[in-house]
Amino acid sequence: MIDNIPRSGRLLRGRAAPARRSHTLRYAHIVGWGMEVPSQVLTNSDLEAIVDTSDEWITSRTGIKERRIAAPRETTTSLATRAAQKALDVADVLPSDIDLIIVATATPEHIFPSTASLVQDYLGATNAGAFDLSAACSGFVYALDMAASKIQTGAINTAIVIGAETLSRVVDWADRNTCILFGDGAGAVVLRGSDTPGGVLSTVLRSDGSGWDMLTLPTINSRDTYLQDGTHELHRIYMDGRGVFRFATHVIGDSIRDALAQVGLTPDDLTLVIPHQANQRIIEHAAKALKIPEDRVYSNIARYGNTSAASIPIALAEAVEQDRLHAGDIVAMVGFGGGLTWAATVIEWTAVPSRPAYSITWGRRQGAYAYAGVRRPLVRWWRRLMLLSPTTWILKARAYLRRRREQLSNLRGPKGN
Ligand code: COA
Repeated sequence: MIDNIPRSGRLLRGRAAPARRSHTLRYAHIVGWGMEVPSQVLTNSDLEAIVDTSDEWITSRTGIKERRIAAPRETTTSLATRAAQKALDVADVLPSDIDLIIVATATPEHIFPSTASLVQDYLGATNAGAFDLSAACSGFVYALDMAASKIQTGAINTAIVIGAETLSRVVDWADRNTCILFGDGAGAVVLRGSDTPGGVLSTVLRSDGSGWDMLTLPTINSRDTYLQDGTHELHRIYMDGRGVFRFATHVIGDSIRDALAQVGLTPDDLTLVIPHQANQRIIEHAAKALKIPEDRVYSNIARYGNTSAASIPIALAEAVEQDRLHAGDIVAMVGFGGGLTWAATVIEWTAVPSRPAYSITWGRRQGAYAYAGVRRPLVRWWRRLMLLSPTTWILKARAYLRRRREQLSNLRGPKGN
Protein backbone atom coordinates (compact mmCIF):
# COMPACT_ATOMS: atom_id res chain seq x y z
CA MET A 1 0.00 0.00 0.00
CA ILE A 2 2.60 2.45 -1.13
CA ASP A 3 -0.05 5.16 -1.64
CA ASN A 4 -0.78 5.12 2.08
CA ILE A 5 2.77 6.05 3.09
CA PRO A 6 2.59 9.65 4.38
CA ARG A 7 4.58 11.93 2.06
CA SER A 8 6.28 13.65 4.96
CA GLY A 9 9.29 14.51 2.80
CA ARG A 10 7.13 16.93 0.87
CA LEU A 11 6.66 19.08 3.94
CA LEU A 12 9.59 20.53 5.77
CA ARG A 13 8.46 22.18 8.97
CA GLY A 14 5.35 23.45 7.28
CA ARG A 15 7.19 24.65 4.18
CA ALA A 16 7.33 22.93 0.80
CA ALA A 17 10.47 20.76 0.42
CA PRO A 18 12.98 21.96 -2.17
CA ALA A 19 12.20 20.67 -5.66
CA ARG A 20 14.22 17.56 -6.55
CA ARG A 21 15.66 16.88 -9.96
CA SER A 22 14.12 13.93 -11.76
CA HIS A 23 16.06 10.69 -11.35
CA THR A 24 14.81 8.75 -14.35
CA LEU A 25 17.52 6.68 -16.04
CA ARG A 26 19.23 8.55 -18.83
CA TYR A 27 22.06 7.87 -21.28
CA ALA A 28 25.46 9.57 -21.22
CA HIS A 29 26.71 10.38 -24.72
CA ILE A 30 30.13 11.68 -25.76
CA VAL A 31 29.30 14.84 -27.73
CA GLY A 32 32.68 16.60 -27.77
CA TRP A 33 36.38 15.68 -27.78
CA GLY A 34 39.67 17.54 -27.90
CA MET A 35 43.37 17.13 -27.30
CA GLU A 36 46.35 19.33 -26.61
CA VAL A 37 50.00 18.34 -26.71
CA PRO A 38 53.04 20.58 -26.20
CA SER A 39 54.84 21.59 -29.40
CA GLN A 40 58.27 20.60 -28.06
CA VAL A 41 59.27 17.16 -29.43
CA LEU A 42 61.86 14.90 -27.79
CA THR A 43 62.98 12.14 -30.18
CA ASN A 44 64.76 8.90 -29.35
CA SER A 45 67.92 10.37 -30.89
CA ASP A 46 67.64 13.33 -28.50
CA LEU A 47 67.44 10.82 -25.62
CA GLU A 48 70.67 9.15 -26.77
CA ALA A 49 72.41 12.34 -25.63
CA ILE A 50 70.78 12.17 -22.16
CA VAL A 51 71.02 8.47 -21.15
CA ASP A 52 72.78 5.33 -22.37
CA THR A 53 70.14 4.18 -24.86
CA SER A 54 69.49 3.93 -28.59
CA ASP A 55 66.67 4.61 -31.02
CA GLU A 56 66.82 0.95 -32.02
CA TRP A 57 66.36 -0.29 -28.40
CA ILE A 58 63.48 2.08 -27.61
CA THR A 59 61.66 1.43 -30.88
CA SER A 60 61.96 -2.36 -30.72
CA ARG A 61 61.03 -2.64 -27.00
CA THR A 62 58.30 0.01 -26.80
CA GLY A 63 57.30 1.27 -30.27
CA ILE A 64 57.95 4.86 -29.14
CA LYS A 65 59.76 7.18 -31.57
CA GLU A 66 59.15 10.55 -29.93
CA ARG A 67 57.20 12.24 -27.12
CA ARG A 68 56.04 15.79 -26.32
CA ILE A 69 57.60 17.78 -23.49
CA ALA A 70 55.86 20.73 -21.79
CA ALA A 71 57.54 24.13 -22.14
CA PRO A 72 58.32 25.95 -18.85
CA ARG A 73 55.06 27.92 -18.95
CA GLU A 74 52.92 24.91 -19.88
CA THR A 75 51.29 23.08 -16.97
CA THR A 76 48.86 20.23 -16.39
CA THR A 77 46.18 22.92 -15.95
CA SER A 78 47.01 24.81 -19.14
CA LEU A 79 47.06 21.61 -21.25
CA ALA A 80 43.82 20.40 -19.63
CA THR A 81 42.10 23.75 -20.19
CA ARG A 82 43.07 23.88 -23.87
CA ALA A 83 41.88 20.30 -24.47
CA ALA A 84 38.61 21.10 -22.66
CA GLN A 85 38.06 24.24 -24.76
CA LYS A 86 38.50 22.21 -27.95
CA ALA A 87 36.03 19.59 -26.69
CA LEU A 88 33.53 22.34 -25.84
CA ASP A 89 33.91 23.74 -29.38
CA VAL A 90 33.10 20.35 -30.91
CA ALA A 91 30.12 19.88 -28.56
CA ASP A 92 29.11 23.54 -29.01
CA VAL A 93 28.42 23.76 -25.28
CA LEU A 94 28.72 26.88 -23.12
CA PRO A 95 30.98 26.76 -20.04
CA SER A 96 28.01 27.82 -17.91
CA ASP A 97 26.18 24.64 -18.98
CA ILE A 98 28.82 22.35 -17.44
CA ASP A 99 27.68 20.67 -14.20
CA LEU A 100 30.82 18.69 -13.40
CA ILE A 101 34.53 18.75 -14.29
CA ILE A 102 36.75 15.77 -13.48
CA VAL A 103 40.47 15.83 -14.19
CA ALA A 104 42.20 12.46 -14.09
CA THR A 105 45.86 13.09 -13.46
CA ALA A 106 48.94 11.68 -11.75
CA THR A 107 50.72 15.02 -12.08
CA PRO A 108 48.42 17.64 -10.55
CA GLU A 109 49.96 21.04 -9.91
CA HIS A 110 48.95 20.83 -6.27
CA ILE A 111 47.72 18.12 -3.90
CA PHE A 112 45.05 20.75 -3.30
CA PRO A 113 43.47 22.72 -4.83
CA SER A 114 42.53 20.27 -7.54
CA THR A 115 43.61 20.87 -11.12
CA ALA A 116 39.92 20.54 -11.97
CA SER A 117 39.11 23.61 -9.84
CA LEU A 118 41.70 25.65 -11.74
CA VAL A 119 40.32 24.41 -15.06
CA GLN A 120 36.82 25.32 -13.88
CA ASP A 121 38.01 28.88 -13.22
CA TYR A 122 39.87 29.20 -16.56
CA LEU A 123 36.81 27.96 -18.46
CA GLY A 124 34.47 30.25 -16.55
CA ALA A 125 32.34 27.18 -15.77
CA THR A 126 30.60 28.96 -12.92
CA ASN A 127 27.93 26.28 -12.35
CA ALA A 128 30.29 23.29 -12.21
CA GLY A 129 31.58 21.14 -9.39
CA ALA A 130 35.17 20.06 -9.90
CA PHE A 131 37.55 17.42 -8.56
CA ASP A 132 40.66 15.47 -9.51
CA LEU A 133 40.68 11.72 -9.74
CA SER A 134 43.76 9.65 -8.96
CA ALA A 135 43.89 6.24 -10.62
CA ALA A 136 47.14 6.68 -12.59
CA CYS A 137 46.87 5.45 -16.19
CA SER A 138 43.37 4.05 -15.57
CA GLY A 139 42.21 7.49 -14.39
CA PHE A 140 40.40 8.58 -17.53
CA VAL A 141 38.16 5.47 -17.67
CA TYR A 142 37.44 5.79 -13.93
CA ALA A 143 36.55 9.48 -14.39
CA LEU A 144 34.38 8.77 -17.42
CA ASP A 145 32.45 6.22 -15.37
CA MET A 146 31.97 8.68 -12.46
CA ALA A 147 30.62 11.38 -14.77
CA ALA A 148 28.49 8.98 -16.86
CA SER A 149 26.93 7.50 -13.71
CA LYS A 150 25.93 10.98 -12.46
CA ILE A 151 24.36 11.72 -15.82
CA GLN A 152 22.59 8.35 -16.00
CA THR A 153 20.93 8.92 -12.62
CA GLY A 154 19.64 12.28 -13.83
CA ALA A 155 21.59 14.17 -11.14
CA ILE A 156 23.50 16.20 -13.74
CA ASN A 157 23.24 16.75 -17.47
CA THR A 158 26.64 17.90 -18.77
CA ALA A 159 30.13 16.89 -17.66
CA ILE A 160 33.60 17.36 -18.95
CA VAL A 161 36.13 14.60 -18.32
CA ILE A 162 39.80 15.35 -18.85
CA GLY A 163 42.99 13.30 -18.68
CA ALA A 164 46.04 15.57 -18.37
CA GLU A 165 49.69 15.02 -17.48
CA THR A 166 53.08 16.71 -17.33
CA LEU A 167 55.06 13.56 -16.59
CA SER A 168 58.30 15.12 -17.87
CA ARG A 169 58.36 17.06 -14.57
CA VAL A 170 58.46 13.89 -12.43
CA VAL A 171 60.53 11.58 -14.60
CA ASP A 172 64.04 10.75 -13.42
CA TRP A 173 66.01 11.89 -16.47
CA ALA A 174 68.99 9.80 -15.32
CA ASP A 175 66.95 6.55 -15.29
CA ARG A 176 66.89 4.99 -18.77
CA ASN A 177 64.33 2.41 -17.63
CA THR A 178 61.63 5.05 -17.26
CA CYS A 179 62.60 8.36 -18.91
CA ILE A 180 62.28 6.92 -22.41
CA LEU A 181 58.63 5.99 -21.87
CA PHE A 182 56.73 9.07 -20.75
CA GLY A 183 55.42 12.24 -22.40
CA ASP A 184 53.10 15.19 -21.72
CA GLY A 185 49.62 16.02 -23.05
CA ALA A 186 45.90 16.25 -22.36
CA GLY A 187 42.65 15.00 -23.83
CA ALA A 188 39.04 15.78 -22.94
CA VAL A 189 35.50 14.70 -23.70
CA VAL A 190 32.16 16.39 -23.11
CA LEU A 191 29.43 14.03 -21.87
CA ARG A 192 25.75 14.95 -22.17
CA GLY A 193 22.59 13.35 -20.92
CA SER A 194 19.88 12.22 -23.33
CA ASP A 195 16.85 9.92 -23.47
CA THR A 196 18.20 8.39 -26.69
CA PRO A 197 19.85 5.01 -26.01
CA GLY A 198 23.61 4.75 -26.57
CA GLY A 199 26.73 6.40 -25.20
CA VAL A 200 28.50 4.79 -22.22
CA LEU A 201 27.02 1.29 -21.99
CA SER A 202 29.08 -0.45 -19.31
CA THR A 203 32.25 -0.09 -17.26
CA VAL A 204 34.46 -2.39 -15.22
CA LEU A 205 36.66 -0.82 -12.51
CA ARG A 206 39.31 -2.91 -10.72
CA SER A 207 42.20 -2.43 -8.29
CA ASP A 208 44.87 -4.58 -6.64
CA GLY A 209 46.79 -2.48 -4.12
CA SER A 210 49.14 -5.36 -3.30
CA GLY A 211 51.06 -4.25 -6.39
CA TRP A 212 51.34 -0.62 -5.25
CA ASP A 213 55.14 -0.61 -5.42
CA MET A 214 55.36 -1.83 -9.04
CA LEU A 215 54.64 1.63 -10.42
CA THR A 216 54.82 4.54 -8.02
CA LEU A 217 55.27 8.28 -7.79
CA PRO A 218 55.62 9.15 -4.08
CA THR A 219 54.49 12.53 -2.78
CA ILE A 220 56.89 14.72 -0.88
CA ASN A 221 55.82 13.26 2.50
CA SER A 222 56.03 9.63 1.51
CA ARG A 223 57.97 7.08 3.57
CA ASP A 224 59.61 6.15 0.25
CA THR A 225 61.35 9.50 -0.06
CA TYR A 226 62.36 9.84 3.62
CA LEU A 227 66.09 10.30 4.18
CA GLN A 228 68.12 9.53 7.35
CA ASP A 229 68.74 13.23 8.05
CA GLY A 230 64.98 13.83 8.36
CA THR A 231 64.58 15.45 4.93
CA HIS A 232 62.85 14.04 1.88
CA GLU A 233 64.43 13.41 -1.48
CA LEU A 234 62.73 14.71 -4.60
CA HIS A 235 59.89 12.42 -5.68
CA ARG A 236 60.37 10.57 -8.97
CA ILE A 237 58.64 7.75 -10.88
CA TYR A 238 59.74 4.23 -9.98
CA MET A 239 58.66 1.28 -12.15
CA ASP A 240 59.15 -2.49 -12.27
CA GLY A 241 58.90 -2.63 -16.06
CA ARG A 242 58.69 -6.39 -16.48
CA GLY A 243 56.14 -6.76 -13.68
CA VAL A 244 53.91 -4.03 -15.10
CA PHE A 245 54.21 -5.57 -18.58
CA ARG A 246 53.02 -8.95 -17.27
CA PHE A 247 50.16 -7.36 -15.30
CA ALA A 248 48.98 -5.26 -18.26
CA THR A 249 48.89 -8.15 -20.73
CA HIS A 250 46.99 -10.20 -18.13
CA VAL A 251 44.15 -7.73 -17.44
CA ILE A 252 43.42 -6.05 -20.80
CA GLY A 253 41.52 -8.86 -22.51
CA ASP A 254 39.61 -9.99 -19.41
CA SER A 255 38.39 -6.52 -18.42
CA ILE A 256 37.16 -5.68 -21.93
CA ARG A 257 35.38 -9.05 -22.17
CA ASP A 258 33.75 -8.41 -18.76
CA ALA A 259 32.53 -4.95 -19.82
CA LEU A 260 31.20 -6.35 -23.12
CA ALA A 261 29.46 -9.24 -21.35
CA GLN A 262 27.54 -6.79 -19.13
CA VAL A 263 25.67 -5.59 -22.22
CA GLY A 264 25.55 -8.92 -24.07
CA LEU A 265 28.31 -8.10 -26.56
CA THR A 266 31.49 -9.94 -27.63
CA PRO A 267 34.85 -8.75 -29.03
CA ASP A 268 33.51 -9.40 -32.56
CA ASP A 269 31.09 -6.48 -32.03
CA LEU A 270 33.96 -4.04 -31.50
CA THR A 271 34.73 -1.53 -34.23
CA LEU A 272 37.67 -0.08 -32.33
CA VAL A 273 39.60 -0.66 -29.11
CA ILE A 274 41.39 2.32 -27.60
CA PRO A 275 43.88 0.99 -25.06
CA HIS A 276 46.07 3.05 -22.77
CA GLN A 277 49.22 3.76 -24.79
CA ALA A 278 51.99 2.21 -22.68
CA ASN A 279 53.91 -0.03 -25.04
CA GLN A 280 53.31 -1.15 -28.64
CA ARG A 281 53.88 -4.77 -27.61
CA ILE A 282 51.12 -4.46 -24.97
CA ILE A 283 48.80 -2.92 -27.59
CA GLU A 284 49.50 -5.81 -29.97
CA HIS A 285 48.84 -8.22 -27.13
CA ALA A 286 45.40 -6.63 -26.63
CA ALA A 287 44.45 -7.57 -30.21
CA LYS A 288 45.66 -11.14 -29.65
CA ALA A 289 43.80 -11.46 -26.32
CA LEU A 290 40.54 -10.33 -27.94
CA LYS A 291 41.19 -12.28 -31.15
CA ILE A 292 40.56 -9.20 -33.32
CA PRO A 293 42.70 -7.79 -36.15
CA GLU A 294 45.47 -5.40 -35.03
CA ASP A 295 44.06 -2.56 -37.15
CA ARG A 296 41.02 -2.51 -34.84
CA VAL A 297 43.26 -1.49 -31.92
CA TYR A 298 44.23 2.18 -32.01
CA SER A 299 47.87 3.13 -31.51
CA ASN A 300 49.65 6.49 -31.54
CA ILE A 301 52.36 5.55 -29.04
CA ALA A 302 55.10 6.16 -31.64
CA ARG A 303 54.32 9.90 -31.54
CA TYR A 304 53.46 10.63 -27.90
CA GLY A 305 54.86 7.82 -25.71
CA ASN A 306 52.99 7.06 -22.50
CA THR A 307 50.95 10.10 -21.39
CA SER A 308 49.26 8.18 -18.54
CA ALA A 309 45.68 9.41 -17.89
CA ALA A 310 45.82 11.56 -21.04
CA SER A 311 46.62 8.77 -23.49
CA ILE A 312 43.09 7.38 -24.01
CA PRO A 313 41.30 10.74 -24.60
CA ILE A 314 44.15 11.87 -26.90
CA ALA A 315 43.83 8.62 -28.88
CA LEU A 316 40.03 8.98 -28.97
CA ALA A 317 40.23 12.56 -30.29
CA GLU A 318 42.67 11.44 -32.99
CA ALA A 319 40.58 8.41 -33.93
CA VAL A 320 37.50 10.61 -34.47
CA GLU A 321 39.53 13.14 -36.48
CA GLN A 322 40.80 10.25 -38.65
CA ASP A 323 37.19 9.21 -39.33
CA ARG A 324 37.64 5.87 -37.58
CA LEU A 325 34.39 6.14 -35.58
CA HIS A 326 30.86 6.44 -36.91
CA ALA A 327 27.42 6.53 -35.35
CA GLY A 328 26.42 3.04 -34.20
CA ASP A 329 30.01 1.77 -33.76
CA ILE A 330 30.92 -0.05 -30.56
CA VAL A 331 34.19 1.13 -29.04
CA ALA A 332 36.03 -0.19 -25.98
CA MET A 333 38.57 1.75 -23.95
CA VAL A 334 40.90 0.11 -21.46
CA GLY A 335 43.28 1.66 -18.96
CA PHE A 336 45.80 0.02 -16.63
CA GLY A 337 48.60 1.23 -14.41
CA GLY A 338 49.66 2.34 -10.95
CA GLY A 339 47.61 1.12 -8.01
CA LEU A 340 47.58 -1.37 -9.47
CA THR A 341 44.38 -0.29 -11.21
CA TRP A 342 42.66 -1.24 -14.43
CA ALA A 343 39.36 -0.29 -16.04
CA ALA A 344 37.45 -0.95 -19.24
CA THR A 345 34.43 0.74 -20.73
CA VAL A 346 32.18 -0.05 -23.70
CA ILE A 347 30.58 2.81 -25.61
CA GLU A 348 28.09 2.98 -28.42
CA TRP A 349 29.36 5.89 -30.48
CA THR A 350 26.54 8.26 -31.33
CA ALA A 351 28.22 11.53 -32.26
CA VAL A 352 28.32 12.70 -35.84
CA PRO A 353 31.72 14.40 -36.21
CA SER A 354 31.50 17.98 -37.42
CA ARG A 355 34.06 20.76 -37.54
CA PRO A 356 33.62 23.34 -34.79
CA ALA A 357 31.76 26.25 -36.33
CA TYR A 358 32.27 29.92 -35.52
CA SER A 359 28.73 30.26 -34.22
CA ILE A 360 27.16 32.66 -31.74
CA THR A 361 27.83 30.04 -29.04
CA TRP A 362 31.51 30.05 -30.07
CA GLY A 363 31.57 33.81 -29.52
CA ARG A 364 29.84 33.40 -26.16
CA ARG A 365 32.44 30.80 -25.15
CA GLN A 366 35.30 33.17 -26.02
CA GLY A 367 33.48 35.86 -24.03
CA ALA A 368 33.22 33.49 -21.05
CA TYR A 369 36.98 32.72 -21.18
CA ALA A 370 37.83 36.44 -21.44
CA TYR A 371 35.45 37.31 -18.61
CA ALA A 372 36.98 34.52 -16.47
CA GLY A 373 40.44 36.03 -17.11
CA VAL A 374 39.32 39.49 -15.97
CA ARG A 375 37.18 38.21 -13.10
CA ARG A 376 39.99 36.10 -11.56
CA PRO A 377 42.29 38.94 -10.35
CA LEU A 378 39.35 41.19 -9.47
CA VAL A 379 37.64 38.58 -7.30
CA ARG A 380 40.93 37.74 -5.58
CA TRP A 381 41.51 41.41 -4.76
CA TRP A 382 37.92 41.89 -3.63
CA ARG A 383 38.14 38.82 -1.40
CA ARG A 384 41.30 40.16 0.25
CA LEU A 385 39.68 43.55 0.83
CA MET A 386 36.54 41.99 2.28
CA LEU A 387 38.60 40.07 4.82
CA LEU A 388 39.74 43.35 6.38
CA SER A 389 37.74 44.83 9.26
CA PRO A 390 36.99 48.62 9.22
CA THR A 391 39.70 49.17 11.88
CA THR A 392 42.28 47.32 9.76
CA TRP A 393 41.17 49.40 6.77
CA ILE A 394 41.83 52.64 8.72
CA LEU A 395 45.18 51.38 10.09
CA LYS A 396 46.28 50.24 6.62
CA ALA A 397 45.26 53.56 5.07
CA ARG A 398 47.15 55.51 7.78
CA ALA A 399 50.25 53.32 7.33
CA TYR A 400 50.05 53.89 3.57
CA LEU A 401 49.76 57.66 3.97
CA ARG A 402 52.66 57.68 6.45
CA ARG A 403 54.83 55.73 3.97
CA ARG A 404 53.92 58.14 1.17
CA ARG A 405 54.75 61.18 3.38
CA GLU A 406 58.14 59.65 4.24
CA GLN A 407 58.88 58.94 0.58
CA LEU A 408 58.02 62.54 -0.35
CA SER A 409 60.13 64.04 2.43
CA ASN A 410 63.04 61.77 1.42
CA LEU A 411 62.71 63.06 -2.13
CA ARG A 412 62.72 66.69 -0.93
CA GLY A 413 65.88 66.08 1.13
CA PRO A 414 66.69 67.10 4.73
CA LYS A 415 65.05 70.31 6.06
CA GLY A 416 67.07 73.53 5.92
CA ASN A 417 69.03 72.54 2.73
N1 COA B 1 68.07 1.61 -23.38
C1 COA B 1 68.90 0.55 -23.46
N2 COA B 1 68.89 -0.48 -22.62
C2 COA B 1 67.97 -0.45 -21.65
C3 COA B 1 67.07 0.63 -21.48
C4 COA B 1 67.15 1.67 -22.40
N3 COA B 1 66.33 2.74 -22.33
N4 COA B 1 66.29 0.37 -20.43
C5 COA B 1 66.66 -0.80 -19.93
N5 COA B 1 67.68 -1.30 -20.67
C6 COA B 1 68.40 -2.55 -20.48
C7 COA B 1 68.27 -3.06 -19.08
O1 COA B 1 69.21 -2.45 -18.24
C8 COA B 1 68.52 -4.53 -19.28
O2 COA B 1 69.91 -4.74 -19.36
P1 COA B 1 70.58 -5.99 -18.61
O3 COA B 1 69.94 -7.17 -19.22
O4 COA B 1 72.01 -5.80 -18.92
O5 COA B 1 70.22 -5.79 -17.17
C9 COA B 1 67.94 -4.82 -20.66
O6 COA B 1 67.82 -3.54 -21.30
C10 COA B 1 66.59 -5.49 -20.63
O7 COA B 1 65.78 -4.81 -19.64
P2 COA B 1 64.30 -5.24 -19.38
O8 COA B 1 63.74 -4.38 -18.30
O9 COA B 1 64.22 -6.71 -19.22
O10 COA B 1 63.63 -4.85 -20.78
P3 COA B 1 62.20 -5.19 -21.27
O11 COA B 1 62.24 -5.96 -22.53
O12 COA B 1 61.31 -5.72 -20.19
O13 COA B 1 61.64 -3.73 -21.66
C11 COA B 1 60.26 -2.00 -20.77
C12 COA B 1 61.58 -2.75 -20.66
C13 COA B 1 60.21 -0.96 -19.68
C14 COA B 1 60.21 -1.32 -22.12
C15 COA B 1 59.09 -3.02 -20.67
O14 COA B 1 59.30 -3.85 -19.55
C16 COA B 1 57.79 -2.35 -20.54
O15 COA B 1 57.32 -1.67 -21.43
N6 COA B 1 57.09 -2.56 -19.41
C17 COA B 1 55.82 -1.95 -19.17
C18 COA B 1 56.06 -0.54 -18.76
C19 COA B 1 54.80 0.24 -18.78
O16 COA B 1 53.98 0.07 -19.64
N7 COA B 1 54.66 1.13 -17.82
C20 COA B 1 53.56 1.98 -17.70
C21 COA B 1 52.32 1.25 -17.43
S1 COA B 1 51.04 2.36 -17.23
